[in-house]
Formats: sequence, structure tokens, C-alpha cells
Amino acid sequence: MKSISDILLNRKTIRKYSGRNVDEELLRDLLTKGCRASTTGNMQVYSIIITRDDTKKKELAPFHFNQKMITEAPVVLTFCADFNRFNLWCRENKAEPGYDNFLSFFTAAIDALLVAQTVCIAAEDEGLGICYLGTTTYTADRIIESLKLPKGVVPVTTVTLGWPAEYPEQPDRLPLEAIIHNEIYNDYSEHDIKNYYSQKEEREDSQKFIRENNKETLSQVFTDVRYKKNDNIYFSKILMKVLNDQGFMNQ
Ligand SMILES: Cc1cc2nc3c(=O)[nH]c(=O)nc-3n(C[C@H](O)[C@H](O)[C@H](O)COP(=O)(O)O)c2cc1C
Repeated sequence: MKSISDILLNRKTIRKYSGRNVDEELLRDLLTKGCRASTTGNMQVYSIIITRDDTKKKELAPFHFNQKMITEAPVVLTFCADFNRFNLWCRENKAEPGYDNFLSFFTAAIDALLVAQTVCIAAEDEGLGICYLGTTTYTADRIIESLKLPKGVVPVTTVTLGWPAEYPEQPDRLPLEAIIHNEIYNDYSEHDIKNYYSQKEEREDSQKFIRENNKETLSQVFTDVRYKKNDNIYFSKILMKVLNDQGFMNQ
């Protein structure tokens, strides 16, 4: 059996899944472990929507820009920041909730992401493959409609889950030195940046990425192709409206 260190050090995102199902008992076990993650004030201000139905997956697919994992994975999990349930409990108990603000959304989003990541580790520990879908925050308005999320609930991330049908190479990471700061933040010199990113830039897959996108540098692939300013502004506006409509921007 693999140790937790092996799992953490060797994990990688899996985007292709075999036809094998993830049985209900196993899924419940993963979700039970996930819900053991730390949670603000033990409020558990999150909900998890399980999608197994093919028709529903097809309905969700365009909201994830038709990434094939949505329809090919046996299980799709949408993790939501959720103050609805907690607000209802407060109101049923003569307590007036004050959670209609951005701070509360952020709190619930942190809770939801901690559960998501814990479910992912539990899944990887079982040999399952997972892929996060960041598209959830781009099209939260459509996902809210599709999953019938009430006020107080906002989807923050989606995870596809299934038995791996690919064994990709593990992607790179920046050296730890690039990430850590001892005691205080040590801002980066030009030389530091060159040094920390050089390995990533020199990799064959990065070079291929640059060529395929007709760009000069790897940074340009991010700024001009993958995560463009105009897209960021466009999807930011949608998300701000979602937060407003779902009742998190009242103060
Ligand atoms: C919040 C978040 C959103 C992501 N969104 C997507 C996505 O929409 N599509 C995808 O194929 N991978 C997505 N990923 C997976 C990342 O691309 C992947 O984690 C990264 O390339 C590093 O690879 P690794 O997980 O194999 O180490 C996402 C990961 C995170 C944490």
C-alpha cells in the first residue's frame, strides 16, 4: 500500500477515465473523509452536488467549455460555498444571520475548497484520478441555474472523478525556494525570476507550447492565449453579478 507521502509526491491530474464506475459506497467514503477537513467555526458552510446522470453531464458540459472530462468521468462533483443551510438553521433558532457579505462568501469558498482538496487526496489514495475544472467560476451563473442552487449558494470548483485510463508524466513545479519566504516576504530580483522559471521554460513541453501558439515566450502563452486580460475582466463581471444575485454583496 502506498503511503500518504507517496500519494502526495507522485500525484498528477488525470483527464482520461476508464468505463469503470465509482461505486456509491466508495464515493460516500471519499466524501465523508472530505467533510473531515477543517472548516471555519465548524459551520461547514459548503455543499457538494454529485452528478452521475449522463443527461445532466451533457447539460453541464458547455458550462465547462465542453472539456471532455465532464461527460467521460463517471462522477462530477460541484463544490459550492453555501450559507443557505446555515442561514436557515439560524433563522429557525431565533438567530439573525449576518452572512450576506463578501467576507462570508470568501469564508464559505475557503471551506468548500478545503473539502474539495481533501476529497481529491482521499480519491487519489484509492487509485482514482481527479481533475479540477476552473471553468466553474467562469460560468457560475449557468451552473447555478442548471443545478438549481438557491440564494446563498455559489459553485466554486468542480472535480471530475474516475478510474485512470492514462498515465501522464508528472508536470513540473517551481523549486521550493521560489515559493517560500523565511519570516518576511523577500521580493524577487530579475535574476531570481530568471533562475526560478528557467527550468519550466526550458522543458520540451513548454517549448512545444510556445511554438504551437506562435509566441515568443512561455509567459505570453499565459497572458495572450490561456488567461487573457479581456476574458478575465469579462468573467470577473459575471462572477461579481453572481455574488450579488446570490446575496453576498449586501454590505
Ligand atoms: C482551481 C483549478 C482549476 C483547474 N481547472 C482545470 C481545467 O479547467 N481543465 C483542466 O484540464 N485542468 C484544470 N486544472 C488542473 C491543472 O491544470 C493542473 O493541476 C496543473 O496543470 C498541474 O498539473 P498536476 O495537477 O498534474 O500537477 C485545474 C486545477 C485547479 C487547482
